Amino acid sequence: MSLLCIEGLSKSFSGLHAVREVNLEVSEREFLGIIGPNGAGKTTLFSLLSGEQLPTEGRVTFDGTDITGWPAHKIAKAGLVRTFQLMRPFESMSVLENVTVAALSRRHSREDARRHALEVLDRVQLSDQVGGNVSTMSTASLKRLELARALAMEPRVLLLDEVLAGLVPVERAPMIDLLRTLPEQGLTVLFVEHIMAAIMALSERLVVMHEGAVLTMGDPRTVVEDRRVVEAYLGEETP
Ligand SMILES: Nc1ncnc2c1ncn2[C@@H]1O[C@H](COP(=O)(O)OP(=O)(O)OP(=O)(O)O)[C@@H](O)[C@H]1O
Ligand SMILES: [Mg+2]
Repeated sequence: MSLLCIEGLSKSFSGLHAVREVNLEVSEREFLGIIGPNGAGKTTLFSLLSGEQLPTEGRVTFDGTDITGWPAHKIAKAGLVRTFQLMRPFESMSVLENVTVAALSRRHSREDARRHALEVLDRVQLSDQVGGNVSTMSTASLKRLELARALAMEPRVLLLDEVLAGLVPVERAPMIDLLRTLPEQGLTVLFVEHIMAAIMALSERLVVMHEGAVLTMGDPRTVVEDRRVVEAYLGEETP
């Protein structure tokens, strides 16, 4: 049985079909890449899965439970957690406090949450910045912090929205290495990204979205050579 089952999922914003009739099954520990031109509906799909937005139609089943219409905090607690394309750390809090707050969603004592936050910060290689000030962090560190905050909530499914955007090439390789370890740690990952080298390095299967719908999906190498995919990107940056 699939861990995540998406059936006929759609979202309209006053006539604009941001997501249309998406059907997708994701297996446990799969690393699924999602690409598509700007405005294809990738972030909106994540917002529907994580409960930030309500679908107009369709159903999401997570580990056998219908979670459609559940509020975001309940979906996160169930184990489906997203990162944000535009990062949202608490600027008045330290790095450690930001991650501790996320850990408190599952850990009951502050001490336990703090201990777990330190472990997660170690995993994302931010141990040297635990007391750091968020407002002065580099983009590369902020991206790791965003990942740490999601991991601290101990998800089973992680929705990563452009966690490599804004990184210079030399910063990307260590982040890709870090992301590669996630399925080994038991996580199922849905990975939205424009950087094709990362998509190809990490994705076991690739979904292409275009104008809200799934254009095609399958083996990444076959998918990127599909003529329809190339055409969807015409006028865009070449994938
Ligand atoms: N809250 C909203 N209200 C109205 N329209 C929206 C809203 N959110 C998204 N849209 C529209 O829905 C479409 C899909 O947007 P979305 O952000 O999901 O695309 P995306 O694939 O994530 O694009 P990008 O690669 O640029 O991040 C776009 O046309 C966008 O303008
Ligand atoms: Mg987006």
